[in-house]
Order: sequence, then C-alpha cells, then structure tokens
Amino acid sequence: MVKKNACVFISGQGSNLKNLIQRSRDVNFPINIKLIISDNKKAFGIIYAKKNSIPYSILNTKLRNYENKIFQILKKNKINFICLAGYMKIISKNFIKQFRKKIINIHPSLLPKFKGLNTFSRVLKNNEIKTGCTVHYVDEKLDNGPIINQKSFYINSDDNEVSLKLKTQKLEYQTFPEAIIKIFRNS
Ligand code: GRF
Repeated sequence: MVKKNACVFISGQGSNLKNLIQRSRDVNFPINIKLIISDNKKAFGIIYAKKNSIPYSILNTKLRNYENKIFQILKKNKINFICLAGYMKIISKNFIKQFRKKIINIHPSLLPKFKGLNTFSRVLKNNEIKTGCTVHYVDEKLDNGPIINQKSFYINSDDNEVSLKLKTQKLEYQTFPEAIIKIFRNS
C-alpha cells in the first residue's frame, strides 16, 4: 500500500494528533504524518512533532498571506491529505477549493447538531440523551461537509462538561483513525 502524505493542523492540546501519529506507525494505516501545522506557538501538541521528529511549522495568522505560506509548505512536503485536529482557525474558501475532499475535521458533537464552539455546555442545556463525535469532509461552511464516521454514547444524569469532554475525546481516538481507514479502503 502506498501511504498518503498527511499534514495535521492543530491549535492546542494535540491529543488526536498524538493518537494519529501512533496509529500511522502501522504499515497498514493509510497515511503517514509528514508535517504538522499550528496556528499557535504555545500549542502543547507541538511536543508530539518534536518527540517524533516530524517537521512542523508555526504560522503567523496575523499576516495577510499566511495561507499562501501554508500552500508552499504543503507543496514542498508533497502533502496530499489534511487532518484538522482541534484547529481553531477558519480555512478560506479558496484553500478548501484547492484541497476539495482532501481535508477532514473532527468535531465533538453528533453533527449536524451543535456546530461551532462550546458544544458540551449546549448539549447539556438542551437535555440531549446522547452525544458523541463526528469526522467529516471540510466544505465552505463551518462543521458542515459530508459525514465520514460518527460515534455516540448515552449521557448520564451526573455528567457535566468535563466528563462529557473526556468521554467524547476517548471516542474521538477511535473515530478519527477509523474515518481515515474508511476513506482509503477502496483506493
Ligand atoms: C477535539 O475534541 C476535537 O473534536 C475538537 O477539538 C478538540 C481537539 O483536541 N475539534 P486535541 O487538541 O486533539 O486534544
């Protein structure tokens, strides 16, 4: 199997990045993580790039042309697949056009429910019975593209924002790699 050269975009903790790096060590996993991009120089997840000797780039998103810079870095590293793992910056329509069906995102809710931020507090306020996470293709609208993989769990009466986050993230570590396997299963 020829693995795809993937780049993971992060902004914070990077626990999904850590998990994807681990999974990609398997020869049968469809991607190799060749590059990590962060829009935040303080993102804890950068440590996983360093620990695993994966090239990384920290962007200055205050610069008007920062997306051009991303293009150049992706091209230089021959990247043909992008995973957004807690990347908090909105990606431009133009960028998405260039990488159509090649960018995926993980979101901590059962999309199409609870797009956007603060999902756990909204899930609780809405008295949802279940919640979970979703991996989807990225399109021009926020948290909107076609769903690739979704997993859910039942909410307990004593759950709070912290416990929901923990449970959701645990589920994300299965859902994200599974989505990637699904995408490349028949290629
Ligand atoms: C995840 O919960 C993901 O669903 C959301 O941001 C969080 C990132 O967590 N998009 P981490 O940085 O992978 O630990």
